[in-house]
Amino acid sequence: MVVLGIESTAHTASVGIVDERARVVALTSDMHKPAHGGIHPREAANHHVDLLPGLVARALADGHVAPADVEAVAFAQGPGLGPCLRAGATVARMLAMAWDRPLVPVNHCVSHVEIARVLSGLDDPVLLYASGGNTQVIAYARGRYRVLGETLDVGIGNFLDKLWIALGGTFPGGPALEREALQGGALHPLPYSVHGMDVAFSGILTAALALHARGVPRPDLAYSVEVTAYSMLTEITERALAHLKGRAVVLGGGVACNERLRGMVRAMVEGRGGTMFAPPRSLCVDNGAMIAWTGLLAHRAGLDVPIRDSAVAPRQRTDLVRTPWREAPGVVPGPSVASRAGEAA
Ligand code: ATP
Ligand code: FE2
Repeated sequence: MVVLGIESTAHTASVGIVDERARVVALTSDMHKPAHGGIHPREAANHHVDLLPGLVARALADGHVAPADVEAVAFAQGPGLGPCLRAGATVARMLAMAWDRPLVPVNHCVSHVEIARVLSGLDDPVLLYASGGNTQVIAYARGRYRVLGETLDVGIGNFLDKLWIALGGTFPGGPALEREALQGGALHPLPYSVHGMDVAFSGILTAALALHARGVPRPDLAYSVEVTAYSMLTEITERALAHLKGRAVVLGGGVACNERLRGMVRAMVEGRGGTMFAPPRSLCVDNGAMIAWTGLLAHRAGLDVPIRDSAVAPRQRTDLVRTPWREAPGVVPGPSVASRAGEAA
């Protein structure tokens, strides 16, 4: 049996199908890319409404999966943009009804943790979750995933996107800045804003634009921004690790695709004698496979809901959702069983 998961929290519409060993049977995605400027929720939602039916059909065909093979239908309940979430939830409800299968709501942030955890085979890692809208250091404690530190203003990815667009580029900015930074090498001082285990980025944005106006070349600007911002993330992750006496870190979220960030966190963790794992890029960015996998864990832990209780939750926080599968590991396959799943990605 497999679980089908639908992701539609922001710019990406995605359908994933995974089996009970967390092998990705199928993954189809399409990212809404505005011609200029940032994302408009209504336009992104229209994109998802148009594309999701086709993505579902393609995922079923790619994975040679029949509706009868589907154990449950999962969807990202939140956090995210309301209209986008509703597009995915509506498709999930329709499939659950048409196929007479249980419907499972999933927290998007928890799903970033769970896919990284199962692929890494690490049992209790600290997660650095660095995406467009979210920047959090997360660890499990007493029944919940806890947010130990987070951004006090924008998510790091939104900050990188905003900067790149202000410099004349188009969304998404993170990968473009990464390529640009490889050509740079002069480090210009920027505000280094770490407050305990929290971080802030808007001061860097203002200062970087001021440097740009003074004629600092774009590659050096990109390099300075990356080094500064990723140092901040590495520092708060190290603080969490030290505090918890932890030995493992996993990365998640679109910004976790970045090689410089991966390298800096790896050096920090390995310097402390621990292990760092980053999922393949297709599973770092928003994807339906992580929703399907977390849906499988939640379904087997009894967290299905009737359709009338399946409203989306645009502001749902990581630390508000129950994760009973973490307390009863025997209920579902543990990471050691599923660690081979990395091959499938
Ligand atoms: P969430 O809903 O979890 O906040 P999201 O909607 O922003 O996520 P993701 O796919 O997790 O979606 O992340 C997208 C972000 O990742 C964008 O801001 C993009 O610029 C950034 N990103 C993608 N690749 C890279 C990279 N190589 N380096 C830096 N940033 C990257
Ligand atoms: Fe995400």
